[in-house]
Amino acid sequence: MLDQTIIEELKIRNNIEDVISSYVRLSRAGKDLKGLCPFHSEKTPSFHVHPAEGYFHCFGCGAGGDVITFVMRAENLAYPEALEYLAKRAGIALPVDYGEGKKRDADRSLVAAMNREAAKYFHACLIDPKTPAGLDYLQKKRGFSMSLIRRFGLGYAPNGWDGLRNHLRAKGYTYEQMVTANLVQKSTKRENSYYDVFRDRVMVPIFDVGGNVVAFGGRLLSDGQPKYLNSAETPAFRKSKTLFALNFAKDHCAERMILCEGYMDAMALHGAGFPSAVATLGTAITPDHARLMSRYTKSVIICYDTDEAGKKAADKAFRILAEVGLEARILRVENAKDPDEFIKKSGAASFARLLDKSKSRFEYKLEGILSRHDPAVVDEKIKALSEITALIAEFPSSVERELYITAVSKKLEIPLKPLAEDVERVMRKNRSRQKKAFAEDVMRKTEGYADRINPQIVGNVASARAEEAILGILLLREDVTERALKEGVLCKEHFVTDFNRRVFMKIAELAEEGMPPETGLLGAYFTPEEMGRIVEMRLARSTLTDNGYTVFLTCVDRLKKGGRTSENSPEDIRAIIEKKRKGT
Ligand code: CTP
Ligand code: MN
Repeated sequence: MLDQTIIEELKIRNNIEDVISSYVRLSRAGKDLKGLCPFHSEKTPSFHVHPAEGYFHCFGCGAGGDVITFVMRAENLAYPEALEYLAKRAGIALPVDYGEGKKRDADRSLVAAMNREAAKYFHACLIDPKTPAGLDYLQKKRGFSMSLIRRFGLGYAPNGWDGLRNHLRAKGYTYEQMVTANLVQKSTKRENSYYDVFRDRVMVPIFDVGGNVVAFGGRLLSDGQPKYLNSAETPAFRKSKTLFALNFAKDHCAERMILCEGYMDAMALHGAGFPSAVATLGTAITPDHARLMSRYTKSVIICYDTDEAGKKAADKAFRILAEVGLEARILRVENAKDPDEFIKKSGAASFARLLDKSKSRFEYKLEGILSRHDPAVVDEKIKALSEITALIAEFPSSVERELYITAVSKKLEIPLKPLAEDVERVMRKNRSRQKKAFAEDVMRKTEGYADRINPQIVGNVASARAEEAILGILLLREDVTERALKEGVLCKEHFVTDFNRRVFMKIAELAEEGMPPETGLLGAYFTPEEMGRIVEMRLARSTLTDNGYTVFLTCVDRLKKGGRTSENSPEDIRAIIEKKRKGT
């Protein structure tokens, strides 16, 4: 168990403003700071940092907490790892053993070590003349050189059931540990029987940015199903946060990074002399990917497959990259289905030429529109213009819109003014649609509709609000907690919603050990999402002047009167929302 003084020291030495500033551009807003929320996509800042109190909070997505919660979310770390991260940052030594978290940590480094061992085994099998299939495939079918194979640590999983299993067993790992790493599976048919997950596949180790093997991808040598088999996700491996080859690309991509759909594409590009290529892992690009890229580069060149799916995925990539402020361009290979095939057919020099001809989203979309509607035909030109105005209206920068309007006016020989007016009209329509969607979202949230953190708010609105007021006060005022517990005016049975009850029990538990309900301590028991809610409850009360014992008792009374029966059925709530909607 970590004690409070260490948490306090960690927080003092890791000023929340400094830590968050290295992720988010913050500007001053009164005594607070604000910026664009790093945890959801937004265009106007609703992410606030309160340096005096040591909290952050986003009004848009409800994320919130202290500096520990922040690094847990930003770096995808478990609580103990976040503490270690901050300790390292501030040059403080943590006590050697602090409970459960340490175990998880140990799990993670054990999995990393086991993966490294597995990668070595797969590579040894690849170059073993007794099992030549894998090397044959990589060299002959894919045209990979030996140096490329070595750089990426590629391997081969022979066609058997227990090669890797036995190898790891001999190195001292248990079957359970191998299962944790997704390298071995437990048989559902036979008791105590374990077998290799990857068989007769070319093995691609997936590295994190630090160069640790966090997972594997395996490709069949022939046309079978599934073509690719990837490690299941673990706390150390989230596809939505991992970019293949970023560990190599990160030193070569300051100006631009090439984003592909498949790791074979990324490796082919590295082999052809384009070391700034990365790939997602069989998933569409996520905001987390985009934020990760934005730490290493200014500009991303989307280089996806030429099929319909690839085009759709490119549209999405454009949007997500723009939302984190990255410049994005697109490169479409010609006469090939993907960059890997293009390189093989046309060579590196042709690819370099395409790189220089990559297009902005506007150029690319405009080209698409004009290929579907021939502007030489009047009716088609009208259709094209309507799509073009909608396209221009999507750009938030007025300078950009101006430039595009001018360009289109020239290209299609139409006067500037009506075109600009059309764009303006579409923008007005979009804005009112957005406003409505936002209002509905707020209403859903305030009425507890679809509340992920405390789903029981639905049906218990009044009680839950009383609970939140109570918890807000307890989080602020240790003296009130102490007195309430001593006088026995409130106990866990009074709580109606499970989440709030859990928060109460934790506060009470800490109080009994003489500790404050400090977020740094609570963070060990609640998820970062839940911490957001806890901070919200505290902030909601901290803006009110009176949080004394009398006010507290009034809230307790309200909770007790609310009773344990549900006051509002989902139908009631829908009615409330409907009424509000009409009223406003
Ligand atoms: N993928 C996957 N499972 C599949 C198919 C694809 O996980 N059944 C992922 C893999 O990460 C792959 C990426 O999606 O790298 C792209 O898929 P695809 O375009 O089909 O693969 P290619 O890179 O073209 O593979 P290859 O050239 O080996 O056929
Ligand atoms: Mn391919």
